[in-house]
Amino acid sequence: MAFGDKNLEPTEIYLQNDKIDIENLPKFTITELSKYNGKDKPQYYVAIKRLIYDVTSNSDSYKPGKGYNVFVGKDSSRLLGTSSLKLKPNEEGKTPESWDYSDFGDKELKVLNDWVKFFKMRYPIVGVVAIEEDDDGKIDTKD
Ligand code: HEM
Repeated sequence: MAFGDKNLEPTEIYLQNDKIDIENLPKFTITELSKYNGKDKPQYYVAIKRLIYDVTSNSDSYKPGKGYNVFVGKDSSRLLGTSSLKLKPNEEGKTPESWDYSDFGDKELKVLNDWVKFFKMRYPIVGVVAIEEDDDGKIDTKD
């Protein structure tokens, strides 16, 4: 993925995203997040590394029937980091959840973090994914 190689000027959206107090963002369970698919809710949300981006401004790429609809309404870290539109099994042959990137090596982490930059430049952050019901919402926000 080439976006990360470019030393782009931060966009207005990026600067806004950078200012956000993540602790105070609304938390979405996986079930709640799944509704932001343009149908159950009018917005399209895509999460990466637990931060939720509102991609509605580019709904043409994300609406049903489009290839990137697969990223909508979930944390798609695993798909993006593995450059795959389908979840791939891990080394043990099990297919992890879409948000799970715990087995990523340097290569996948770089791809994933490049996508974080791309989304952060283009789309407002609107929430945090609460993976577990008792999740404290603390996340690793390094990019
Ligand atoms: C044959 C394979 C593919 C082609 C030809 C392709 C082509 C493109 C093009 C032309 C764009 C628009 C770039 C821009 O707006 O600057 C794009 C965006 C994107 N691609 Fe792909 N892509 C391919 C595969 C993939 C795969 C495997 C993934 C992820 C697993 C992926 C994820 C994305 C995402 C997330 C965007 C950003 C959409 C947005 O918010 O604008 N693509 N792709």
